[in-house]
Amino acid sequence: MKLQCVFAMVMGASMGFGNSAYSADAASDSMADTQQAALHKAIDTCASCHGINGRSVAPTFPNLAGQAAPYMEAQPHAFKDQSCADPDAQAYMWGMASQLSDPMISELANYFATQPAAEGKPGNAALIAQGKHLFEEGVPARQIPPCASCHGAHAQGMATFPRLAGQHAPYLLKQLLVIQSALRTAPAMHGVVKDLSRQQMQAVVTYLESI
Ligand code: HEC
Ligand code: HEC
Repeated sequence: MKLQCVFAMVMGASMGFGNSAYSADAASDSMADTQQAALHKAIDTCASCHGINGRSVAPTFPNLAGQAAPYMEAQPHAFKDQSCADPDAQAYMWGMASQLSDPMISELANYFATQPAAEGKPGNAALIAQGKHLFEEGVPARQIPPCASCHGAHAQGMATFPRLAGQHAPYLLKQLLVIQSALRTAPAMHGVVKDLSRQQMQAVVTYLESI
């Protein structure tokens, strides 16, 4: 992990150096500066909770590696404007997000989006089978749409639909609960989770963590 870290810093330094040495374009210089600053921030700050390269160890902290960049770019704004207001978001991310400029948020999102995503972990087979069915088919009788219709067939995410595959199950479960109770504002999701039972949530998040 140390090696990767040093490698990333060297890469960052050479990227910045290359640009200021050879480019007369001030705009691209400042973009390279932001890129480099984002890399340092990711390593010095974000990694302490979200893990090296965005693959976190503790389930309180979501994996960011491989997350869809436009979704990730939107989240710090949701922390800034406090529309994501569950206690962990308040405790950990409100202060953090308030210190990030918009270009820095974009660069951080690009950085984490391009890191290899965390791999799935095995779990309870019966819950996984139930969760997979719910994810792929929804519950037509209760007007719960298939999660796959927005999050992708493999929960890989796209644009503003987050990647869910390989994410920590306790984190995902908590998000479903705070979205259901509207502590977290997520218009596309409120109708989806309205009639989802705690047992169905547990099944779908166990499936998602496993892939
Ligand atoms: C002190 C710990 C801590 C640090 C440092 C931290 N975060 Fe977070 N972050 C969290 C927690 C906890 C959550 C989940 C909040 C919740 O449960 O709603 C989170 C959530 C996020 C999310 C939303 C992820 C999702 O799937 O919705 C993004 C994006 C994010 N952080 C980016 C960053 C970036 C970029 C940095 C570095 C500038 C950073 N975080 C630093 C603790 C931290
Ligand atoms: C109509 C599209 C749509 C459908 C269907 C949908 N989602 Fe979502 N989901 C979203 C969007 C958009 C977000 C991001 C919300 C935001 O803006 O913060 C999201 C966010 C989430 C999150 C939070 C992820 C994170 O990293 O914090 C979870 C968990 C989630 N969805 C699970 C599900 C599950 C499980 C289902 C099926 C029962 C489902 N979704 C169906 C659109 C959808």
